[in-house]
Amino acid sequence: MGVGGCLALPWRCLVVLCLRLLFLVPAGVPVRSGDATFPKAMDNVTVRQGESATLRCTVDDRVTRVAWLNRSTILYAGNDKWSIDNRVVILSNTKTQYSIKIHNVDVYDEGPYTCSVQTDNHPKTSRVHLIVQVPPQIVNISSDITVNEGSSVTLMCLAFGRPEPTVTWRHLSGKGQGFVSEDEYLEITGITREQSGEYECSAVNDVAVPDVRKVKVTVNYPPYISNAKNTGASVGQKGILQCEASAVPVAEFQWFKEDTRLANGLEGVRIESKGRLSTLTFFNVSEKDYGNYTCVATNKLGNTNASIILYGRCPVYLQ
Ligand SMILES: *[C@@H]1O[C@H](CO)[C@@H](O)[C@H](O)[C@H]1NC(C)=O
Ligand SMILES: *[C@@H]1O[C@H](CO)[C@@H](O)[C@H](O)[C@H]1NC(C)=O
Ligand SMILES: *[C@@H]1O[C@H](CO)[C@@H](O)[C@H](O)[C@H]1NC(C)=O
Ligand SMILES: *[C@@H]1O[C@H](CO)[C@@H](O)[C@H](O)[C@H]1NC(C)=O
Ligand SMILES: *[C@@H]1O[C@H](CO)[C@@H](O)[C@H](O)[C@H]1NC(C)=O
Ligand SMILES: *[C@@H]1O[C@H](CO)[C@@H](O)[C@H](O)[C@H]1NC(C)=O
Repeated sequence: MGVGGCLALPWRCLVVLCLRLLFLVPAGVPVRSGDATFPKAMDNVTVRQGESATLRCTVDDRVTRVAWLNRSTILYAGNDKWSIDNRVVILSNTKTQYSIKIHNVDVYDEGPYTCSVQTDNHPKTSRVHLIVQVPPQIVNISSDITVNEGSSVTLMCLAFGRPEPTVTWRHLSGKGQGFVSEDEYLEITGITREQSGEYECSAVNDVAVPDVRKVKVTVNYPPYISNAKNTGASVGQKGILQCEASAVPVAEFQWFKEDTRLANGLEGVRIESKGRLSTLTFFNVSEKDYGNYTCVATNKLGNTNASIILYGRCPVYLQ
């Protein structure tokens, strides 16, 4: 009688099943690879999540009963399916081989599977471990972040995979581009402007290509004027004063002559600021333009200024 035929008679069926179970897995007999030669199950089976796993058990014609178990749960007994999982199918039940297949393997399928056979009234078992691999995957990573210079920053990169992936951080914009952390967390105390830029998190296991993601760290700092040179110009010619400041966020510029702020477009001057550079242009320099100018660079973290002299120079034709 097949197990399937029992379904209409639950009570009696249970008893029958229990008896069968006792044949196959007698109480007190630990489930382990007892007989080294027989039954012969394969070595451990390693598959990736989503793939199929085939569990094979070699038998011979002395064998009277066969079953495959997941831990202590019977999946198949002979040709009878006990598992309600439709991913589990029987592949072969012949005089030499008894195999089942698990489709679309998932991580919770990992564990010991037992081939149980009965030969000449002696139950024997053989165990195989199903090992499920999962490619590395970054599941949670810090967002791009903006901080002020001197503050402390912690970047986080959480990854999943089987085997558990190794997580590392690298500073891409940094000199040498070496690893800055061999850990899921990257802590930077007292961050400097040189430590701004892109940080790359890699999650690596040997199942598939690493999962790599980037986080951008922006470090704010107050303006610093890097270039402001005194400049000569001759009367009637064009004169240009330049002021260069580095700052994050980018600086805004103002120009003063003594205490008077200069306005764009008035009195024959033009002020143009783009990125780090601001220029003050005199379209037609006259004597009164000569003097001491101040360039002020400001962002939300502070301001700084530099003095630039526009001085007279003899016209080219007089030199
Ligand atoms: C094996 O047993 C585990 C634990 O009970 C279960 O989560 C998993 O679905 C089972 N897998 C198969 C293929 O029966
Ligand atoms: C099979 O896998 C189990 C569990 O991971 C392990 O203990 C055992 O040593 C493995 N056996 C072989 C032959 O690799
Ligand atoms: C990522 O981690 C942070 C901090 O632990 C948590 O607040 C957030 O909810 C997590 N996001 C996701 C999508 O799991
Ligand atoms: C520059 O200014 C002087 C005096 O105001 C004027 O004579 C001259 O034509 C101007 N030159 C130009 C190019 O505008
Ligand atoms: C220009 O003015 C600044 C302050 O307004 C002053 O410190 C500096 O000495 C002046 N430069 C000259 C050459 O007079
Ligand atoms: C330039 O900087 C000095 C020193 O920080 C400050 O005293 C002065 O007021 C500044 N000048 C302007 C025009 O902002």
